[in-house]
Amino acid sequence: MTTTDPTIVSHSSAPRVAFPPAFHWGTATAAYQIEGAADDGRTPSIWDVFSHTPGKVVNGDTGDIAVDHYHRFREDVRMMADLGLTSYRFSLSWSRIQPTGRGPAVERGLDFYRALVDALLEHGISPVATLYHWDLPQELEQAGGWPVRETAYRFAEYAAHAARALGDRVPVWTTLNEPWCSAFLGYGSGVHAPGRTDPADALKAAHHLNLGHGLAVGALREILPASAQLAVSLNLHMVRPLTDSAEDLEAARRIEAVGNRIWTGPMFNGGYPADLKADTASFVDWDELVRPGDEAEIGRPIDLLGLNYYNPTIVSAPQKDSEAPEPARNDGHGNSPYSPWPGSEDVVFHLANEDVTAMNWSIDASGLSDSLIGMHHDFGLPLMVTENGAAFEDVVGPDGTVDDPERIRYVRLHLAAVADAIAAGADVRGYYLWSLMDNFEWAYGYSKRFGIVHVDFETQRRTPKSSAHWYTEVIRRGGLD
Ligand code: FCB
Repeated sequence: MTTTDPTIVSHSSAPRVAFPPAFHWGTATAAYQIEGAADDGRTPSIWDVFSHTPGKVVNGDTGDIAVDHYHRFREDVRMMADLGLTSYRFSLSWSRIQPTGRGPAVERGLDFYRALVDALLEHGISPVATLYHWDLPQELEQAGGWPVRETAYRFAEYAAHAARALGDRVPVWTTLNEPWCSAFLGYGSGVHAPGRTDPADALKAAHHLNLGHGLAVGALREILPASAQLAVSLNLHMVRPLTDSAEDLEAARRIEAVGNRIWTGPMFNGGYPADLKADTASFVDWDELVRPGDEAEIGRPIDLLGLNYYNPTIVSAPQKDSEAPEPARNDGHGNSPYSPWPGSEDVVFHLANEDVTAMNWSIDASGLSDSLIGMHHDFGLPLMVTENGAAFEDVVGPDGTVDDPERIRYVRLHLAAVADAIAAGADVRGYYLWSLMDNFEWAYGYSKRFGIVHVDFETQRRTPKSSAHWYTEVIRRGGLD
C-alpha cells in the first residue's frame, strides 16, 4: 500500500465536504420581518394592515419596530462581516420606494437601500436583492391586489425604479419570494396578508404573480448591466406520496401541479400544465385568465433559480374512513379552515418524521438534495439555496448567549445535502441561511426564532448564537469538516 492510496485518512486541513471556491455563503432576511420604521417614509403594506388586525398574528405582534434594522443596518452589516458572510440576501420594501404602488419613486426610500448596499460592498459582502417578499402596498390591495392583472404591471414599474437606483451596485436580483405563499396563503387559506379566502382569487393571484415576474424580468433586462443575474425564489414542494398506491400517487400529482408546476410550467416549460388547468377548472376559466402572449412573457429566460427549502411534503389520498382522526394539514405557515390547495382540498398531509423543529416541520435533508438534483435535471439552470434554516426553542444563558446545537445539526445536515447535490452534478452557487437574526415570523409574530443571531426584542441587542460561530468556521474552511 502506497501513501497515495485514497483509502488512507487524510489529516490535512482540507474540508471533507468541500464547496466550489466561488460559492456564496450567505444569510437571508426580508424587509417587513426586520426593518421596522413602519411609518418612517413609507405607507402601509398589506402586512401592516394584516398584523394590526386583531387575531391574525400570535400575541398581536406587528412589524412596526421589528428588529429596527432600518436604524441599525450599519451595525448589522458589521456583524455580518464579523461572521465572515460573503453574501447577503435581503428584500426591498415596495411601499418605501413607491408609496402608493404607482408613479414616481421616493428618493428617501431608495437612499436607505443605497446606503445598505454600499455598506455591504464596503465589507466585501455581495448583495442579493429580492424585489417582493410579500409586502404589497396596501393601496394596490385596495385596488384588487394580486388577483387583478393591473398589479403585475405595477410590479414591473416598481422593479424598474429599483433597478435604476441600485443596478450599478446589486449584481443579483430575485423577483418574487415564494409566490406560492403570496397566492395561496394570502388569498386561499388567508393565514397571510391580505387574509382573503377565495380559491378563485388565489389562482388568479398566482397567474398575476407569474406575469409580474415575467414583466419585471423584461424591465430589469432593459435597465441593468449585462452582467446582472436575474432569479426567482420558489418554495418548490418536495412532494412525496405516502405509499406507492395509485391513489397516493394521484394526490402527489395534484399537489405537485398546484404547488410547483403552476410556477415552473410557464416559467420554464412553455405554459401552464393541462392537468393543473383541469384540476382547477371549477374555479377559474384559464382561457380567459391567461391572455395570448402571457406565457411567453412569464417564460423570459432567467440566469439563476432560487430554492427555499425547509421540509418535504408527504401526501396521501383523501381518507375513506370518516371515523379516523383527520391528520392536521401542514401548510407551513399556519392552518385555517380554508384550504390553500384549490381543487385538491381533500388531499391528506403527513409529517415526514417526528424529528421536528419548533414550527413542527420535519427535519429531512434528503428533500433538499433531491430537489436540487431534480431542478438541475428539469431546468438546467444554475441554482441557489435562497433560504434554509430552522426555528427552535432557544434558551438564553445568564450571560445572554444561546447554545443551539439543534440548529447547528439542522444546518449541517442540509449543507451536506447541498454538497451531495453538487457532487451529483447540480450547479449550486450559494446557500443563504434563514435567517441572519431572530425576526418577525409572519403569523407567528416574534414567537418563533430562526436567527443564528439572537435578538433581545426589548433592547434590540444582537448576540451571535453558537450556530453563528459554527457557520463562521464552515465559511472559513469552505465546507464541512
Ligand atoms: C419562508 C419565508 C421566510 C420565513 C421562512 C421561515 O417561507 O420566505 O420569510 O418566514 O419561511
